[in-house]
Amino acid sequence: MPVIAARELAKVFRVPQKEPGVVGSVKALFKPHHKSVTAVDGVSFEIDEGEMVGYIGVNGAGKSTTIKMLTGILVPSGGEVRVLGRDPHRDRVNNARDIGVVFGQRTQLWWDLALIESLNMVARIYEVPDKRYRELLDQFAETLDLTELLSKPIRNMSLGQKMRAELAATLIHEPKVVYLDEPTIGLDLLVKERIREFIKAQNREKGTTVVLTTHDLGDIEELCPRVMIIDNGRLIYDGSLQVIKNRFGKYREIAFDTAVSLNSLEVPPHAEIINREERRLVLRFDRSQTSASKVASSIMQQIEVQDFSLTEPDLSLIIKQIYQGALKQETAV
Ligand SMILES: Nc1ncnc2c1ncn2[C@@H]1O[C@H](COP(=O)(O)OP(=O)(O)OP(=O)(O)O)[C@@H](O)[C@H]1O
Ligand SMILES: [Mg+2]
Repeated sequence: MPVIAARELAKVFRVPQKEPGVVGSVKALFKPHHKSVTAVDGVSFEIDEGEMVGYIGVNGAGKSTTIKMLTGILVPSGGEVRVLGRDPHRDRVNNARDIGVVFGQRTQLWWDLALIESLNMVARIYEVPDKRYRELLDQFAETLDLTELLSKPIRNMSLGQKMRAELAATLIHEPKVVYLDEPTIGLDLLVKERIREFIKAQNREKGTTVVLTTHDLGDIEELCPRVMIIDNGRLIYDGSLQVIKNRFGKYREIAFDTAVSLNSLEVPPHAEIINREERRLVLRFDRSQTSASKVASSIMQQIEVQDFSLTEPDLSLIIKQIYQGALKQETAV
């Protein structure tokens, strides 16, 4: 049985409309007009235990709204959602025991309490046994580098410190399912790295199911073998990250460090030079036409190579193409 199952899930918001100016405001007060905004438009998917799924899409695509329905914060306008067999909205109390949610844009912790007090409180609310709590506290303090922060009130924390604190508080009751809505937004590289490692460890050690929305494709590359792409409230892709890379990453790059300086060179077929220095050569090739080994052997026949490396297709470029409609064009053909 899947841990999360959504069937034709939809959310339509009714937003009050008003004409501009004071007159408009007064009119709206007495005779409000509404317009419907379809944020999520019939989304279906299943997520199994232990999966880590990246949920991506442009601003306003419907990611957060979906997450809010999965967590029970919002009631769907249509369709159905089941998390661990429950309706997350109707069965909110039981659901809360099994899930953890982080919204990167805002904190859920008590602003004035020191982190340790917040954690103690959360552990009490979720009835985490004392011994287990102490073990987890030690672990989390280590992996999230929290030791120095435990006595600090949340209000005095930097963004990165707050997010680490938030993650600890969200996972201290060892939820089976964790929703992370932009957990690395605005954070520096080292903190991002630490957070990714932490999430990875939770998944590896406990089989935690993770749904992650992010605009940082580094998060996706590090954590999510599966991605779902939402566009205008509809799922336009649900499948492996690797398949997308293979399908859209037409070009790859291969770099050579040469033993001697480069002179004239015959460029292998279906490849082009994109950078050339005295002892370094970077080529780009069309992987539907040729292969890395063909390009490499052609170069090696011409010049002594000390080292070479192949770079993965650039995910951000691929995702940009998809956001711009590459998938739709492809399926339309
Ligand atoms: N409470 C609300 N009332 C009215 N409209 C809303 C509400 N919440 C979201 N929307 C609208 O629903 C659409 C989807 O919003 P949502 O926040 O789910 O997008 P998102 O994919 O999370 O975007 P982002 O990447 O910017 O976080 C948007 O058009 C948004 O304006
Ligand atoms: Mg959002």
